[in-house]
Amino acid sequence: MSSAPEEISVPLSTPSLRGNEGAYVKECIDTEWVSSGGAFVERFEEAVAAFVNRSYGVATVNGTAALHTALLVAGIRSGEEVLVSDLTFIAPVNTIRYVGAWPVLIGAEPQFWQMDPEKVAQFLAEKCEHRKDGVYNRRSGRRVSCILPVHILGHPCDMEALLELARRYDLIVIEDATESLGADYRGRRVGSLGDVACFSFNGNKIITTGGGGMLVTDDPAMGERARYLTTQAKDDPQEYVHGEIGYNYRLTNVQAALGVAQMEALPELVESKRAIAEHYSRAFAQVPGVEPMRQASWATSSWWLYTVLVDAQARGEDSRALMRRLAKAGIMSRPLWQPMHLSPAHRDVESYHCEVSARLHERALSLPSSANLTLKDQRRVIDTVAAPGP
Ligand SMILES: Cc1ncc(COP(=O)(O)O)c(C=O)c1O
Repeated sequence: MSSAPEEISVPLSTPSLRGNEGAYVKECIDTEWVSSGGAFVERFEEAVAAFVNRSYGVATVNGTAALHTALLVAGIRSGEEVLVSDLTFIAPVNTIRYVGAWPVLIGAEPQFWQMDPEKVAQFLAEKCEHRKDGVYNRRSGRRVSCILPVHILGHPCDMEALLELARRYDLIVIEDATESLGADYRGRRVGSLGDVACFSFNGNKIITTGGGGMLVTDDPAMGERARYLTTQAKDDPQEYVHGEIGYNYRLTNVQAALGVAQMEALPELVESKRAIAEHYSRAFAQVPGVEPMRQASWATSSWWLYTVLVDAQARGEDSRALMRRLAKAGIMSRPLWQPMHLSPAHRDVESYHCEVSARLHERALSLPSSANLTLKDQRRVIDTVAAPGP
């Protein structure tokens, strides 16, 4: 007989809505501005753009829509190629296909698990041909036009190296910063580094609007075009004249109201995440076979999801066995995403040196990291992880 599903008492990453969220949503209801018009959308866009030191913020229905729009406004065309992180949630790779372009999956580096700039450099130098009008993948014959690094788990990619390659080869850089609002790279905000960057405000992210996203940029042409495309490409709203095929990607005022309140709380939320990470790292330093995620000297992570690598030999159980044991104790944990080079959804896509991503996928487990995780619950997670296996 199979056992009943375990009751989860310590979730992985839940929202924290303890500030002005209720008051601002009530304001939307009281004024009946609940849909796409209303003051909160603009306030939210300004708050996020100001936080990441960008001139433009365009709110969208979710992070995936922001990424899709970013590729459109960056001018990435059908038949071009985009170098993208292999170890990522699937959304950025899907959006490359939405615009008819092709992903080339670049493996992770072993230290901080982000897109490996050395592999990007090697791919561009060894696998590509350099013509007057751009850089072309020798194997596919397609033009490489963009790098799309994904700052996973709250930790930035090594952007200096990637930006230098982008300059050298004339490539656009789109940051997928959906998991890393609040992180810094060499003193600069994640999301302020590429030509355009995207955030997600899904329920499990650092701040949430229920569902939502945002594209940020300093480029007026990209900012204006993003606003145009995400609002059905309307040339004349009175006469319903649309200049081209646009999208209904707008965020509603109710969601933006949540967002404005969440932005007020952001510094505190990131601080809590950092304290949680510090506590975990100190505890796991004493536990053989559990290797905590590290932070680069050039990074200040926002520690979105605290993740460890499980050494099956040293612990007598692998990451999935530990996940099941945690679940039995009511504690939620989660492996990293299946790397994209193994994904059936992208089986016909080229990949480049993805061995590290595959190893990380096998061994990694994300642990409860909600900003409102109590010390008592965190102690319980630590004790359960540290306890001997079955
Ligand atoms: C790396 C990454 N990119 C994109 C997204 C898509 O964001 P959304 O779920 O808001 O569409 C997510 C998360 O959900 C993500 O983790």
